[in-house]
Amino acid sequence: MAHPAFADIGAAVFDAYGTLFDVNSAAQRRRARLGDKADKLAEIWRLKQLQYTWLRSLMGTHADFWRVTGDALDFALAAVGIDDRALRDDLMELYLSLEAYPEVAAMLAKLKKAGLKTAILSNGSPRMLDAAVKSAGLDALLDAVLSVEAVGIFKPHPSVYRLAVERLAVTAPRISFQSSNAWDAVAAAQFGFKVAWCNRFGQPRERLTAEPHAEIKTLAELPGLLGV
Ligand code: LAC
Repeated sequence: MAHPAFADIGAAVFDAYGTLFDVNSAAQRRRARLGDKADKLAEIWRLKQLQYTWLRSLMGTHADFWRVTGDALDFALAAVGIDDRALRDDLMELYLSLEAYPEVAAMLAKLKKAGLKTAILSNGSPRMLDAAVKSAGLDALLDAVLSVEAVGIFKPHPSVYRLAVERLAVTAPRISFQSSNAWDAVAAAQFGFKVAWCNRFGQPRERLTAEPHAEIKTLAELPGLLGV
């Protein structure tokens, strides 16, 4: 069912990690080596990665997402008691070829066929995003891949969301933004986008400053929401 809030959308913009790409797939692919520590490691890695983006933004000490992801992995490995440099480097390499969620390619193709612009807006560094997009075979389905490196601060700083408006030349209320990260969804709604929160992990809603306009379980629901 088309959703009235999304009646006049010109561009669909997506968060990358956790939304288009499965960030847990790196640790899962090394489950044989990580054993029963795989899930704990993946969880701490992701949590620390996000915390470090927020902390660095607050401290005014920006470093790119590759560095932050590596620092977070080092913390996570130490937390689960693993000291293995080769494994560390291997897990980082896997971050460049994360699996896309199964519905992503067909969903993007549908939006493009309907004439919408499609883009990624992510904390990821250009090199990380380029590698992930190519390895998942999504390059022909995206009009733009926008990295926070263009503004030098991480989400949820408003200048990041403004980047999409400027680069896509579509006004904020005509941009539909999708993220599985509830805090990112809230910040995008606060900025002025129309937001579909892709609540893949069944999380409770954030108690913050704004609410997403819609909640979906996977991105397969998005074309219907947009009425395409
Ligand atoms: C991103 C993180 C927030 O891709 O998932 O920007």
